[in-house]
Amino acid sequence: MRYKLFGSYIAVAVLLAWASLHVPWLWLSFVVVVPVLLLGAFDFFQHDNNVRRNFPLFGTINDLMMKQRHVPQELLLQTSWEGRPFSHLQQRLVLKRAGDSLTNEPFGTEKDYHAAGHDWLVHSLYPAADGEYELRVNVGGPDCAQPYSASILNVAAMSFGSISANAVRALCGGAKRENFAVNTGEGGIADHHWEPGSDLIWQIGTAYFGCRTEDGGFDPEAFAEHAKRESVKMIEIKISQGAKPGFGAILPASKNTEEVARYRGIDPHTDVHSPPEHREFSCAEELLDFIHRLRELSGGKPIGIKFCLGQRDEFVELCDTIKKTGRAPDFIAVAGGEGGSGAAHLDSVHHVGGPTEESLVFVHDTRIANGLRDRITLFVAGKVISGFDIVRYLALGADVCYAARGMMFALGCVQSLKCNTDHCPTGITTMDRSRVAGLVVSDKQEKVANYHRNTLEGVRSLLKAAGLDRRTDLRRNHIERRLGPAEIRSLATLYPEVSSSQT
Ligand SMILES: Cc1cc2nc3c(=O)[nH]c(=O)nc-3n(C[C@H](O)[C@H](O)[C@H](O)COP(=O)(O)O)c2cc1C
Repeated sequence: MRYKLFGSYIAVAVLLAWASLHVPWLWLSFVVVVPVLLLGAFDFFQHDNNVRRNFPLFGTINDLMMKQRHVPQELLLQTSWEGRPFSHLQQRLVLKRAGDSLTNEPFGTEKDYHAAGHDWLVHSLYPAADGEYELRVNVGGPDCAQPYSASILNVAAMSFGSISANAVRALCGGAKRENFAVNTGEGGIADHHWEPGSDLIWQIGTAYFGCRTEDGGFDPEAFAEHAKRESVKMIEIKISQGAKPGFGAILPASKNTEEVARYRGIDPHTDVHSPPEHREFSCAEELLDFIHRLRELSGGKPIGIKFCLGQRDEFVELCDTIKKTGRAPDFIAVAGGEGGSGAAHLDSVHHVGGPTEESLVFVHDTRIANGLRDRITLFVAGKVISGFDIVRYLALGADVCYAARGMMFALGCVQSLKCNTDHCPTGITTMDRSRVAGLVVSDKQEKVANYHRNTLEGVRSLLKAAGLDRRTDLRRNHIERRLGPAEIRSLATLYPEVSSSQT
């Protein structure tokens, strides 16, 4: 087959050359014929791809279509409620909120209201008259000299390097306007974080970027210098993230520019692999000591940990150790296995890490059972897009939500799934200057601010509809879920609430 096909290309070219001797303008066709012939020859002789070798040219067309299949799929073939990780309906919701445009929908829901897994709010016959809910939460236990009042919605960790300078500036600019916080991600703190003046949650990962010794260890002086700055309101130790728990992190060489490398304290233009494990601790007691040390070095700011839940007994043991030592993190951020990433390992992305909802419930219930509710604030990150997503997580036990990809949609993300290639078409997850210039900071910071404000407005409306006087009155029985054609359960039945007396 391969000989016939490639031979036929050569035959067509020879025929055209012969015809051009008689009809001179036919030489023009060689503008197309020569590249096609070269591509065919390349396919024919290469060893890498069987289909391209056996079907020169058609193999390349097939490859191109495979790589870009999500484009026609998303643009033309999918219904509004299909699409992964996020449906068109979810993206549209963010765009509307970010654009501060039409905040209503015509005709009725496009979602299948009777599909298994569909959740809804159990509203009241008597909606609350007063909709003034306090949507901020104080973070910081008794050991904290500088507690922080956090919005219930903040930007989840995304490092400079995984996202561009303009993306960081727009997120921080939006956060400054609406008074919420941006998590720096594990890539250190760049001027793009400092300059807009928003509140920052400084994340420290296993590679200690931003407070790193030359041999990759933790540098207490460098840490204290940044941690004491006014904009840093809290510090988060990243133990793991949902898309790649236990695998560490990757920054591809193409995105590791000189500027990115400078903030991380590493060599530019190389693949960067953060190790899976921390050098500073390898058991509960050492982790709590490290937290205590960071709190002292930061001048008493809230110190938290972020992890994706794996072995449950380890978390139970952590709570036991907290009670034994009296040392505790000020907050815990739970990230679900369905979380996002700039670049995740093939072995981890689909099958490692507990899902957000079950992990959140477990961590919350264990915190309650150990009498740690007032001591540890619970953050959650996992596909927060709408006000309802926040309300559901709050009902399940979270105090504060993080959004990463929701915020990316507000920045103009089109879910092109190219975050790991430096070819992001929207200038968000690329370091390519010409693409980054396409993201206009002044416009996008307003969109981020609008998205945040309108989403919290949605939360208020839902709390009102549930007839609640206070946000903290929200319970699991305010959400119901369809499990099958004739089966509906309250989340309170699926996840019975525990009390602190059950220790
Ligand atoms: C582009 C990108 C970069 C990320 N970088 C980090 C990071 O540096 N540290 C981290 O803990 N999580 C990181 N995450 C994970 C997010 O913080 C968050 O936990 C996860 O995406 C779930 O939230 P979401 O569903 O709202 O996106 C990143 C996610 C994305 C999409």
